[in-house]
This record gives sequence, C-alpha cells and structure tokens, in this order.
Amino acid sequence: MRRYVRLFLFPLGILFLFAFQPSSNDEYIVIGWNDLGMHCMNKDFSNLAILPPYNNLMAQVIKKGNSSTNPKVITDEMKITYEIPGNTYSVGKTNFWTYAKHLFGVDLKDDIGLTGKGLTGVMDKKDNYYLAEGIPITPFTDNDHINEDPYQLAHLKVYNSSNIVMTSTNTVIPVSTEMNCVGSGCHSSEQHILNKHDKEDGFDPNKKPILCASCHASNALGTKGQHEAKSFSFIIHDKHAEKAKDNCYKCHPGEKTQCYRDVMLKAGLKCQNCHGTMKEIAKSIEKGRQPWLEEPSCGSSICHGSAFAEEKGKLYRQSKGHGGIYCSACHGSPHAIVPTGELTRDNVQNVALQGYEGILAKCEVCHGIKPDGLGPHNILLTQVKIEDESISSSGTKFNNPYPNPAINKITIPFDLNEEGNVNIEIFDMAGNHQITAVNQFLLSAQYSIDVDLRTLNSGSYVYILSLNGKKIKGNFNVAK
Ligand code: HEC
Ligand code: HEC
Ligand code: HEC
Ligand code: HEC
Ligand code: HEC
Repeated sequence: MRRYVRLFLFPLGILFLFAFQPSSNDEYIVIGWNDLGMHCMNKDFSNLAILPPYNNLMAQVIKKGNSSTNPKVITDEMKITYEIPGNTYSVGKTNFWTYAKHLFGVDLKDDIGLTGKGLTGVMDKKDNYYLAEGIPITPFTDNDHINEDPYQLAHLKVYNSSNIVMTSTNTVIPVSTEMNCVGSGCHSSEQHILNKHDKEDGFDPNKKPILCASCHASNALGTKGQHEAKSFSFIIHDKHAEKAKDNCYKCHPGEKTQCYRDVMLKAGLKCQNCHGTMKEIAKSIEKGRQPWLEEPSCGSSICHGSAFAEEKGKLYRQSKGHGGIYCSACHGSPHAIVPTGELTRDNVQNVALQGYEGILAKCEVCHGIKPDGLGPHNILLTQVKIEDESISSSGTKFNNPYPNPAINKITIPFDLNEEGNVNIEIFDMAGNHQITAVNQFLLSAQYSIDVDLRTLNSGSYVYILSLNGKKIKGNFNVAK
C-alpha cells in the first residue's frame, strides 16, 4: 500500500530512476571479496596483542562485453566506496584505540585503523583491481557488543566520474576474536601467560600490553623478529602441538566461528590434509618455509593439478586467471571457496550475479553473450541441444558419439531420465582432466552436445557424465 502512495506522490523521482538505473546496471558488474576468508583480532588489548583489527577488501569492476566486444576489467574513471551496514564504529567494542600508541607507536583517531582507513571509505586503485587495506572492523554490530557476527556483509558501490552509482555488490568481511588463549580453556589468564614467559632478552610481564610479534617475527604483521626469539608461527605451533591435541580451532576461530566453511569441508578435507599437523607446520618453517607467504596450493599435483593452478610463485589470493580476473573473484576467499556450507552470506554475491550459487561460471555475466572459445581453465563452451523433449524409455545413458574417431569436433548424444546438475568431463587415458563439456542444470529430455576437440591430441579419451551422485562413462578416439 505504502508503495503505491509513494509512486503517486513522486512520479518524477521514479522516472528519473528509470532513466538511469537499468542501462547503467547492464553495463558493469563489480565483484568484491576478502583476501583471507577470515581475519582474527584481539578484543582486549590491555595485556597482550596478537593481531589488531585489520581487514582487507578487494574488488574488480568489469565492463561487460557483447556480441562485438570482450568484457574489460577497468579501474579508470570508476570509484568504489565500501561500508558495512549495521556496523559503523569500533571504539567501545574493543579497547584497541586505548593501546594503539603503546603497541604500534601511532596516534590513531577513533575508528581509524593502522593504514588510515575507517569503517566506510573509498577503495584504492591498484593495477587492475581495487583495495581497501586495514579496515578496523570488529565482529560486533552496533546493536550487539557481546555476541559475535563474524560474517557481516560489506556493501560496495561503484560510481562513475559524474558520481552516479553504476553497480554495487555485497561481500562477506569476515572477522573474529575467537582466538583466545583463555576462552579456549587452556590458560587461566592472559597475565598468567605473561608471567610464565621466560624473562629472556628483557621480556617484562609488567610492560603491558605486549605485542608478541615485536620479538617473534610474523609475516602477518611484517615484523622481522628480535633477539633470539623464533618466528611466531614456529613457536606457537611447535610448543602447543601436544597440549592443543592438534585441534586447530583451539586458537584459530574457532568452535563457534568455523572459519573453514567451504566446498572442500563438504568433501571431507580437514585442516591437516592441506597444512599438515602443528608439528609439521613448525618443522616446515624450520626447513625454510616462509609462514603466511608459502601455503598449500590448489594446483599441487595431488590436488587439482596444473590446469587449476595458481600463478607461478604466487598464493591463491594473489593469483589471477581467465581474463586477468582474480581466482577469488570467481571462487571466493581461501577457506570460503564457493559454494560454502551453512553460511549463505558467502554465496549471495554469485547468486546475485548469475542466479545460482557456486563458482562464477556463467559466461554471460561478464561477456553478455556465450563466447565461442576457451573459457576459464580452457572450458570449451558446449551448446547443449535438445533433440527430443520426451524422456527416453531406456533411462539415463550415452548414445554412440560421432564421428568416431573424431578430428576437431565430436557429437555426443545423451538421454536424461531425471533432472539435475549435469557435469560432463573428458579425461585422457592417464586420468588427466582435459575438458569440461557441460556443467549446468538440465531437465529430463534427450540431448546432444558438439564438443570442440581442438585442444586434444590424437589418442583415446573417456567422458564421464555425473548427475545426482551417479556416473556414466563413454569413450572415443581422436585421430589428427
Ligand atoms: C621481548 C621479546 C619477546 C616478546 C615480546 C615475546 N617473546 Fe616469546 N620468547 C622470546 C624469546 C627470546 C624466547 C626464547 C627463544 C625462542 O624459543 O624463541 C621466547 C619463547 C617463547 C615461547 C616458547 C617458550 C618455551 O617454553 O620454550 C613461547 C610459546 C612464546 N615465546 C610465546 C610468546 C607470546 C604468546 C608472546 C606475546 C604475549 C611473546 N612470546 C612475546 C622473546 C619474546
Ligand atoms: C596454540 C594456538 C594455535 C593452534 C592450536 C594452531 N595455531 Fe595456527 N597459528 C596460531 C597463531 C598465533 C598464528 C599466527 C602466527 C603469526 O602471526 O605468524 C598461527 C598461524 C597459522 C598459519 C599461518 C602461518 C604459517 O605458518 O603459514 C597457518 C597456516 C596455521 N596457523 C595453521 C594451523 C593449523 C592447520 C592448525 C591445526 C593443525 C593450527 N594452525 C593450530 C596459533 C595456533
Ligand atoms: C583445502 C585445503 C585447505 C584446508 C582444508 C585448510 N586450508 Fe588453510 N590454507 C589453504 C590455502 C590454499 C591457503 C593459502 C591461501 C592464500 O592466502 O592464498 C591457506 C592459508 C591458511 C592460513 C594463512 C592465512 C591465509 O588465509 O593465507 C591459515 C592461518 C590457515 N590456512 C589455517 C587453516 C585452518 C586452521 C584450517 C582448518 C580449520 C585450514 N587452514 C584448512 C588451504 C587449506
Ligand atoms: C572467470 C572465472 C574463473 C577464474 C578467474 C578462475 N576460475 Fe577456477 N574455475 C572456474 C570455473 C567456471 C570452474 C568450473 C569448471 C568445471 O566445472 O569443471 C573452475 C574450476 C576450478 C577448479 C576445479 C574445481 C573442481 O570442481 O574440480 C579449481 C581448483 C580452480 N578452478 C582453481 C582456480 C584458480 C587457482 C584460479 C586462479 C589462478 C582460478 N580457478 C580462476 C572459473 C574461474
Ligand atoms: C568474471 C567475468 C568473466 C566470466 C564469468 C567469463 N569471462 Fe571470458 N573473459 C573475461 C575477461 C575480462 C576477458 C578478457 C578480455 C580481453 O582480454 O580483452 C575474457 C576473455 C575471454 C575470451 C578471449 C576473448 C578473445 O578474443 O581474446 C574467451 C574466448 C572467453 N573469455 C570465454 C569465456 C567463456 C566460454 C566463459 C564461460 C564458460 C567465460 N569466458 C566466462 C571475463 C569473464
């Protein structure tokens, strides 16, 4: 009812909106993400500090393509602002600002973080992306200073040079204080931790608060370490391995927060599958691994292999793939690789962009059309043709592909007796993934696909259709 009244009263305003919004919203998209998937911070800085409030958002703006132009990642002319609706201040939710000078040697205005960024502001332009580094957000919303909301949504708005909003998005800005040495039931108090620390190299439990990384080197804070103190990651994992019983959530957030929440958790992987045990983490540092800068890789040969690898020498969060777009832009942040589990907020952005959750896979989102050529990871776009809308009487199956052997193109007919997300992958005889031919939701009917084989050499290949947990196989030969 209220809507109608407003329509009636402000017809001009409505017209104005119509004149601008639809066309501009069609032309650009913005994708935002968090660099790490989780940022920890202390809540109370009066005794010791492990990490300050310091969160990083990244974003890319893409000018969409159409039948005559390719999409383009742009940074000129556009400005991006960020804000966290419902979370507008931090002073009073943590005592960081009382101790910032003592801990980090800088005078900070209220609600301004170590890099000068506040809870709202303008992102900085980098080569082909935007960055807001050091946002001092806490997990406490304005309405609740007690219960954490570790997965709040940041809102990003893209303005053109005339200050008109061209597009916007929402993305999770994760933060948690659930790394408490005391709350996990291990240490009786923070003072106790300080009192227990050897009085080495002038360690004085009364010179509070104490920044652990001021002596123990930490690449998270960029400290080089002092005296004889070993690296923070080494000392913490090495000394606590037995007491913590290798339960990473004793310190990393955490039993409540569940920072690792992604598609690989659903597949059954544990922290240790990728990182090793606490002892192994420590040992690898002793052997020369740089904590924070050398981490597991998606592209390792025992995981997804070279077709899905990071850029050489770079971390996942630093790598770009298809069209200069960051891996995280299509897949999400580390430990929050979409589709994530319970937490729907990680999925909202891709649902808004392409209509369904999961990897940003729909070519039209950026290209405006379905391009004819290699997509991300050399996905060859395969047109799925409906041959007959009726359901085949002999069940879900492949029919003979033709021509076989094939040269550059093969047609594979298949029948579906049920609906669902259909995935058809092509592998060589050694089991190496070659082509994703289909990855989309299909209704039951009889179909065929024309698969582009230009990237394959002569040899034998297997194709596997997965649907609702079932797998069906077929094979063909390529002779060039
Ligand atoms: C003034 C410098 C200094 C500061 C600040 C400091 N440490 Fe240490 N710490 C050392 C030195 C030196 C050692 C002994 C050498 C080593 O094992 O690294 C040590 C050893 C340790 C050990 C191993 C103790 C053992 O039983 O072998 C742990 C654990 C540790 N520190 C944790 C911390 C934590 C947590 C903080 C922050 C509250 C902290 N340190 C702050 C200098 C410091
Ligand atoms: C006793 C507390 C504690 C436990 C238990 C713990 N961590 Fe940590 N972890 C830390 C702290 C503190 C840091 C930050 C160190 C720094 O600033 O360099 C850290 C940093 C890390 C890092 C980044 C630094 C690096 O070495 O690359 C990784 C990865 C990591 N932890 C993985 C794990 C995994 C996996 C487990 C469980 C098998 C685990 N941790 C258990 C306290 C812990
Ligand atoms: C599927 C593999 C995988 C699993 C499982 C996994 N991690 Fe990681 N982890 C990674 C990768 C890859 C990175 C590097 C991400 C980047 O920064 O690009 C990483 C980085 C980290 C870091 C450093 C901060 C960062 O994001 O770079 C910490 C701390 C960490 N992991 C802790 C954990 C803990 C604790 C668990 C379990 C609760 C866990 N990881 C589970 C793959 C994994
Ligand atoms: C433009 C979007 C886009 C970018 C950028 C992108 N990917 Fe992908 N990625 C995809 C799509 C779409 C798939 C799904 C392919 C499929 O269904 O088989 C995929 C699949 C994957 C998979 C395999 C998932 C599985 O189910 O086995 C991994 C691992 C992966 N990508 C890693 C990366 C890494 C690492 C980067 C950065 C170097 C990256 N991706 C960049 C879109 C992207
Ligand atoms: C997140 C945005 C995004 C998505 C999703 C995306 N692309 Fe792209 N694509 C780009 C960008 C950006 C370029 C770079 C264009 C350039 O370099 O001028 C590109 C380039 C290409 C090119 C090369 C064009 C040329 O002429 O050099 C092809 C082919 C292509 N994409 C196919 C696909 C296919 C197929 C899909 C879907 C499976 C897809 N893309 C999904 C953003 C995207």
